[in-house]
Amino acid sequence: MKVVIVLISYTFVVNISCFHLPPGITTCSKSDPDFDECLRKSVEDGVYRLSTGDKHLGVVPYEPLYVAMISVDENPGATVRVAQKFLNIKIHGLSLTKVKKFKVDFDSCYIYAETLSPLVRTEAEYELKGQLLIFPVNAKGNSNVTTTNLSIEHNITCQRYMKRGKEYIHLNSYKITAKPEGITYNFDNLFEGNRRLSEQIHKTINERALAIFEEVRGVTEESYSLIFKEIGNKIFNRIPFSEIFKD
Ligand SMILES: *[C@@H]1O[C@H](CO)[C@@H](O)[C@H](O)[C@H]1NC(C)=O
Ligand SMILES: *[C@@H]1O[C@H](CO)[C@@H](O)[C@H](O)[C@H]1NC(C)=O
Ligand SMILES: *[C@@H]1O[C@H](CO)[C@@H](O)[C@H](O)[C@H]1NC(C)=O
Repeated sequence: MKVVIVLISYTFVVNISCFHLPPGITTCSKSDPDFDECLRKSVEDGVYRLSTGDKHLGVVPYEPLYVAMISVDENPGATVRVAQKFLNIKIHGLSLTKVKKFKVDFDSCYIYAETLSPLVRTEAEYELKGQLLIFPVNAKGNSNVTTTNLSIEHNITCQRYMKRGKEYIHLNSYKITAKPEGITYNFDNLFEGNRRLSEQIHKTINERALAIFEEVRGVTEESYSLIFKEIGNKIFNRIPFSEIFKD
């Protein structure tokens, strides 16, 4: 199965070499007995505050998060045996993500986090071609997918390096495991002119939404990981380690 993901990133021209954390985000001290809780809270606040974008850090707004395209080849043997293409994707709701757990192992540069996003709505233009359940499908239109209580485990490896006399971190690998509590799929125009069939298919798909998610889990996790890694590295590339964590 081939997956293509196109992110659009803007590059801001900046001529200052090092940055500080935006106001309102706490720097946590490693010697603080409540370091883990400080960090959890700080990351949660950061996710919310940076969601409107930060020009200095080169972080584009991610409420909603924009992804230019995700395309997935047909997956033989799946319920959803369709080539899928999504364009102009807007993901709403990530700014309200709660951070449940956030742990950093400084020596091995390893980060583990658990987050919960109560309501995530993804709007996109879709193109589906193939076999959906037993029906041939060849459709395009607007779609929206609503995910409730999306739990994500983030498993990140990183690397510490020096730049202009200061230490920075770079995220190397970013793996996630996503567990949605509920999903509702909605594709406009799925079987053009046949509303009853379209309603029937939606009913069936949505009854099996979590099973169908298992079939697109790989793609979904890969897309999110790529996006999170890109946003994370934008921030870590510019803010020295000592600005984020105090001794
Ligand atoms: C999204 O889908 C829901 C059904 O799940 C529908 O009621 C709603 O109108 C759709 N919204 C948009 C913006 O397409
Ligand atoms: C999400 O989980 C919380 C806590 O378990 C629950 O109260 C809430 O109803 C859930 N939200 C949805 C939309 O199911
Ligand atoms: C995180 O990823 C590493 C390397 O892929 C793996 O060894 C480890 O078991 C993972 N940990 C968790 C908690 O998923």
